[in-house]
Amino acid sequence: MKSSFFSFGLVLGAVTLLTACTGYHQYAKEHDHYIPGLGEIMAQSADRHAKLWFAGLARNWELAAYEVDELREGFEDAAKYHRTHKQIKQPIPELISQYMDQPLAGLEEAIKDNDSRAFTNNYDSLTEGCNACHQATEFGFNRVTHPSFNPFANQAFGTSN
Ligand code: HEC
Repeated sequence: MKSSFFSFGLVLGAVTLLTACTGYHQYAKEHDHYIPGLGEIMAQSADRHAKLWFAGLARNWELAAYEVDELREGFEDAAKYHRTHKQIKQPIPELISQYMDQPLAGLEEAIKDNDSRAFTNNYDSLTEGCNACHQATEFGFNRVTHPSFNPFANQAFGTSN
């Protein structure tokens, strides 16, 4: 009797430990790595989209190149962490390359050439691409526009020299 209680205790202990471990791993999986939501990545991309405009306008090509890089990284994260999203049927990585690859590459080229006219044209294509993807994903109510004023009070967009 005594020994069967003992083994019951052992089994119970093992099960409890196992459950605790599994629970911990699940917790770690969910909480160790913060994964930004698609909406958060987008809100950040919207800021970069605006900053890119003011950098290009000021012909601060280094800053403009940086903002394009940041946009690329944001979309890479969106594709990596949100392969699917809500009711959207097409995979997110596919949509992103369909609408963003060309304007981003065009902007990189324009920036490399310090070409303001090409920059503006490709910036317009980028904005159209943002909106085309919103249309394609039933988020067409969310319209991206050319920034009408500079809301960033604490950043200088021109070059210092
Ligand atoms: C995959 C196609 C796709 C592309 C490309 C895309 N978006 Fe989005 N965007 C979405 C979806 C889907 C949402 C809604 C996400 C959600 O459910 O929260 C969204 C949401 C947004 C939001 C709302 C976030 C908020 O908090 O107000 C903004 C702003 C936005 N996008 C800006 C942009 C900009 C700027 C670009 C281009 C530089 C862009 N998006 C490119 C699909 C896209």
